Amino acid sequence: EKGGYDHFMLKEIMEQPQAIFDSMRGRLDLEKLTITLSGIEQYAEQICKANRIVIVSCGTSWHAGLVAEYLIEELCRINVEVEYASEFRYRNPIINEGDVILAISQSGETADTLVALENAKSKGAIILGVVNVVGSSIARLSHAGAYTHAGPEIGVASTKAFTAQLTVLELIALKIAYIKKSIDDDQYAHLLNELNAVPDKVQAILDSQIPKIREIARKYKDARDFLYLGRGYNFPIALEGALKLKEITYIHAEGYPAAEMKHGPIALVDENLPVVFVATKDRYHEKIVSNIQEVKARKGHVIAVITEGDEVSKQLAEDYIEIPEADEIVAPILSVIPLQLLSYYIGVERNQDVDKPRNLAKSVTVE
Ligand code: F6R
Repeated sequence: EKGGYDHFMLKEIMEQPQAIFDSMRGRLDLEKLTITLSGIEQYAEQICKANRIVIVSCGTSWHAGLVAEYLIEELCRINVEVEYASEFRYRNPIINEGDVILAISQSGETADTLVALENAKSKGAIILGVVNVVGSSIARLSHAGAYTHAGPEIGVASTKAFTAQLTVLELIALKIAYIKKSIDDDQYAHLLNELNAVPDKVQAILDSQIPKIREIARKYKDARDFLYLGRGYNFPIALEGALKLKEITYIHAEGYPAAEMKHGPIALVDENLPVVFVATKDRYHEKIVSNIQEVKARKGHVIAVITEGDEVSKQLAEDYIEIPEADEIVAPILSVIPLQLLSYYIGVERNQDVDKPRNLAKSVTVE
């Protein structure tokens, strides 16, 4: 049942090229340069006209929501807010008739998300769902949406569901941007090609980087704390990397936007602290390189996820993991893969039950 792997978590990490491909299949047509998402098309007019889109989710799905915020604001020029479902539901949020609420959930059963949606729906909001489990409560409550096609996820920590969520959210953002004409045709065609290339690039990471990641895992398995830093589209990936580490290894970890380091977390940096930088080549690259230098100057251990061939970062980092070059808009789907693997292998080194971490449940149906 684990397909020859020691754990479901590893099996599901390895299934990601397929999960991402399946989430695009029948939707993205590179020849015609079209995206077919009937649920979204049905509400296209309301979405394009919306003053704002509110994304509601929890945990890893909330991290996918943060990536979607950057995507939708940049590509569609629509104001987006990302809310923890639990906070949103209890604070009597302002919801007006016709507001668009986008729910993201693997299980489709998360209680906080479900109740937040019920409230918003009763006030006249349009509910769109990005859900993995077909026929689940959130899927049934939504007016429309687009399923992720990740297949069943058994490992408690979310991996392939997350990259499938990012894939579907990219499709939604590009679809809306195309309808709104908020990006030009060349950019649209370029991004469709970039998205289409993601499964092969994920496969390339899985094929080439595991020995290096295992080595890093052995080196840092006894660390007490980790810091994860990223900027822009990679900021939510820093948060997700830290969450995966906490869940799977029980090592304390924090994720931050790299530029926030100087406003506090830099006080933690000493010769005992590993700092994971998500530092792929994008518009912020030079800035993150100077953050790496700041950590090095304080004797922190830099582990960097970098773009293949980035010699400057290779020189600077104590350890690095390379991923293929990609547009920054799709880069998060690639840069999260090494972080999932790092958590997995540290968990294995520490003999933890990686498929069923203590105190966690696959779907959180209590408040
Ligand atoms: C993290 C994890 C959780 C879930 C969260 C939301 O690895 O699995 O943080 O992401 O409980 O669950 P769904 O997406 O099912 O609503």
